[in-house]
Amino acid sequence: MFAEIAPRYDLLNHLLSMGIDIRWRNRTVRLAGDPAGQPILDVCCGTGDLALAFRREHPAAVGVIGADFCRPMLAIAKRKAARLKQASVYFIEADALHLPFPDNTFGLVSVAFGLRNVSDTDAGLRELTRVCIPGGRVLVLEFTLPRIPLLAQLYRWYFHRILPRIGQALARNRQSAYNYLPASVEEFPQGEAFLQRMAAAGLRQPKAFSMTFGIATLYCGIK
Ligand SMILES: C[S@@+](CC[C@H](N)C(=O)[O-])C[C@H]1O[C@@H](n2cnc3c(N)ncnc32)[C@H](O)[C@@H]1O
Repeated sequence: MFAEIAPRYDLLNHLLSMGIDIRWRNRTVRLAGDPAGQPILDVCCGTGDLALAFRREHPAAVGVIGADFCRPMLAIAKRKAARLKQASVYFIEADALHLPFPDNTFGLVSVAFGLRNVSDTDAGLRELTRVCIPGGRVLVLEFTLPRIPLLAQLYRWYFHRILPRIGQALARNRQSAYNYLPASVEEFPQGEAFLQRMAAAGLRQPKAFSMTFGIATLYCGIK
């Protein structure tokens, strides 16, 4: 599914979110804090926007790696890094559930709009935590649903009725990726429920930062 939508993924991200996705990633980088001189890993990196945002924020001495299991997404990420002359960001093919890194390697481990797609959320969280250094941070940026009832109703209408039509028209794919998106967001644990999953994965002081009336949330925990 991700291979099919890869060529139009960035365009649709920016169009369907009216460009707000860029701000969500930049805010994630700011809230993530300092990686304490350790490398940064962005899992399910897709076309590389969050990894590249980390690269811009931190000095080149800190290594930034983006990992994804979808080759067409990675190919776009690599081209983008080359175009932006960000040669020191490395993109690798890897499964979020079996990351090819030893325990306690990264100062920051992030995943944006990716964990929801991983087949086992808890195993995914444990794997992100495993590769993070003690005292490092695990960050999960995800779509959520607004809490204000009227806004939630309006948003659901856009999310379920409008977004899939635009998505499907612009990024033709056999697997209805843009129907899958709202369905998967409705199913994914949100707020307190997700914070409890983070704690169960071994993360301390899990916190949620709501963005844009709650349509996205950054979850952050300390290993
Ligand atoms: C919605 S995209 C998000 C991409 C990017 N993080 C962003 O912010 O735009 C989800 C990405 O997760 C990747 N993905 C899903 N399951 C994965 C897994 N088990 N291991 C590695 N990547 C995975 C997909 O290939 C896809 O590129």
